[in-house]
Amino acid sequence: ALDPFKLIDIENATEEQALVLEDITKQFELSTQKITEIVQHYVGEMHKGLEKNNHTLAMIPSFVIGKPTGKEVGTVLAMDLGGTNFRVCLMEFKENTEINIKQQKYRVPDEFKTGKVNMLFDYIADCVDKFLQEIGYEKKNGILDLGFTFSFPVQQTAIDKGTLLHWTKGFEAEGAVGEDIVKLMQGSLNRRQIPARVVALINDTVGTLLAHAYKRHTDALIGVILGTGTNGAYFEKISHIKKLGTFQSKSEEMIVNMEWGAFDLERKILPITMFDNKLDRESLNPRAQLFEKLISGMYLGEIVRNIILYLIDRDLLFKCVHFDYSTFKEINKQWAFDTVWVSTIEADQSSNLDDTKIVFEKYLNIYSTSLTDRQIVKKVCQIVGIRSARLGAAGLAGVISHRGAIKTGCSIGIDGSLFEFYPNFEQRLKSTFHEVFGSDAENIHLELTRDGSGVGAALAAILAVKHA
Ligand code: GLC
Repeated sequence: ALDPFKLIDIENATEEQALVLEDITKQFELSTQKITEIVQHYVGEMHKGLEKNNHTLAMIPSFVIGKPTGKEVGTVLAMDLGGTNFRVCLMEFKENTEINIKQQKYRVPDEFKTGKVNMLFDYIADCVDKFLQEIGYEKKNGILDLGFTFSFPVQQTAIDKGTLLHWTKGFEAEGAVGEDIVKLMQGSLNRRQIPARVVALINDTVGTLLAHAYKRHTDALIGVILGTGTNGAYFEKISHIKKLGTFQSKSEEMIVNMEWGAFDLERKILPITMFDNKLDRESLNPRAQLFEKLISGMYLGEIVRNIILYLIDRDLLFKCVHFDYSTFKEINKQWAFDTVWVSTIEADQSSNLDDTKIVFEKYLNIYSTSLTDRQIVKKVCQIVGIRSARLGAAGLAGVISHRGAIKTGCSIGIDGSLFEFYPNFEQRLKSTFHEVFGSDAENIHLELTRDGSGVGAALAAILAVKHA
């Protein structure tokens, strides 16, 4: 089998280019030993987070109780906010895991992401209003139960109650932090007289896990997002969630949203490069979501860009490019390097690296790059992509160790563009599991679980009403 960690050979590199690249590669490298240490540290952090509130690894109880069986029936609304688009769906669950879905997507304009939160939620309510009119839903049919996927760190106190801890992923709407998200949302829905009642508020990872379990995966353990942001949720024994105190439930387990994006904010274990520090310092949320910034799609392109800029400044890249003041105008802009291109470049197998050439010409106005330049850029993409997958695997391995699930086996539902589209991502996860668990790694099953935030939110609503 092909080694998913194999790096491209750079032909005709000068001695200095080779040396500097070797140095950068080292900074991004995570040995098996290091991965094991990260896994151990992660497990320790999980314990701390389960014991007390406000730990960096937040370990938030979701109050989602009970597992879907695949036999759920009913009609509910689901909404999903947390990325580029807002989505609303009407879902009719029939027996035998058949679902009838009507849905609509709406772009969230940037001014709503950073304006007043009431504007954002009123806009969402308008979208729901439009949607219900389009599908011809009439008020006389009654009030719909609504499951709301809100993919940010929310400190929940009940399935339908939770305050926003802080924004992530480029959202910054004013007046939301510390407020009850369900109250705010319900307020906007009521102002528009929309026949819907928010009965469940969940994270997208929780939704992904529910959607995965719904497909009759009785060994479902973890739901993960590897996309714009990254995070995981898993089934935990309620008796282990010490900070819940004497919470009573018929069920033994509850889903916990780990908010792993904030893992190791203390910088005790993760090796952080100067390229990461530059990204962090210039981001909307400096000194927050450190783990996420090393892994997720929102950031990989920017890390690659930072390395490229460094190499340009040291005169080690694009030396043949005839340049004047405007040559690097595009690539000098923050966020100018799209993570999709990192993916394209990693996938580029042509001997001349033609697709890589196109990226630079078409999007960045950098012409006449040499093959050596392109090979260097490809290597940069590889080291950033490999580190991302290995760290993601470390987080997952931590949960699996903590739950003692490696011998019995478990399955993981995963959603997000990195997992779905990034070359070799799944192979890299699996290889890293092998380093940590040896041949037992075969007991870990990964499955793409699309639409956790839709189906999952709807299931959460159904479960909430059932367990109320
Ligand atoms: C960010 C959010 C988290 C979400 C993840 C994936 O990390 O804080 O709540 O699950 O992105 O969308």
